[in-house]
Amino acid sequence: MRLKDKVAVVTGAATGIGQAIAIRFAQEGAAVVVDYIGAPDAPRETEQRIASSGGRAIAIAADVSKPAEVQALIDGAMKAFGRLDIVINNAGIEKKASFVDYSLDEARRILEVNLLGPFIVSQAAAKQMIKQGQGGRIINISSVHEDLPMPLNAPYCMSKGGLRMLMRTVAVELAKDQITVNNIGPGATYTPIDADIQAQPELEKALMSAIPLNRWGKPEEIAALATYLASDEAAYVTGSTFFIDGGMLRQASSS
Ligand code: BGC
Repeated sequence: MRLKDKVAVVTGAATGIGQAIAIRFAQEGAAVVVDYIGAPDAPRETEQRIASSGGRAIAIAADVSKPAEVQALIDGAMKAFGRLDIVINNAGIEKKASFVDYSLDEARRILEVNLLGPFIVSQAAAKQMIKQGQGGRIINISSVHEDLPMPLNAPYCMSKGGLRMLMRTVAVELAKDQITVNNIGPGATYTPIDADIQAQPELEKALMSAIPLNRWGKPEEIAALATYLASDEAAYVTGSTFFIDGGMLRQASSS
């Protein structure tokens, strides 16, 4: 068990990468706070899968872009488990539309959730970790698109590019408190965020041809990297993005 006695908050943990991380962390001995938004039954599957393998978890609804809800999330973690060691900023949204037609309100919402969300959550978490005085781990689920442009996805790419500099800056600032900050940059991972592509074979084929390993990544593969970064073994790792993309970035940069 690599995360024994740790307490982790995972945002957007009802589905996809967040769900896989929450389940894996619980298997590794962490107590997990499953953040979600939407219907109260949204986090049930994550909770049940954790409970059925003997793990500890609670679900708390919090919109990561709302500071009061985020504070309640951190307070809830403290009340349930008494400490906070790991935060996974995973909650994220995207909407594809051409740049010239992109609605400002939709762009703003994407930035609020994908970029200001991690700012708000990390700030509240870091205050608690500093108070505890035993360091901590902040891990952002970014994307290959913190580096790689994606046409029809400008606000998403802006948010992930911003997340890169949020991570780098905060990593330097929080190092004195032994809090490490890193990004994971997944490529095409088989989760509901890409349901549109999964439903259209031609689009899916085009995406796979952009990936040297020629397949989707699995959420569990992202969770394995998150487990390492969250563990004590990664104490000297901070300020970096770790891409896990089947070679997508290398192929893009060679063409
Ligand atoms: C996006 C997906 C996209 C993938 C690879 C992810 O960050 O959420 O929509 O398929 O990157 O381009």
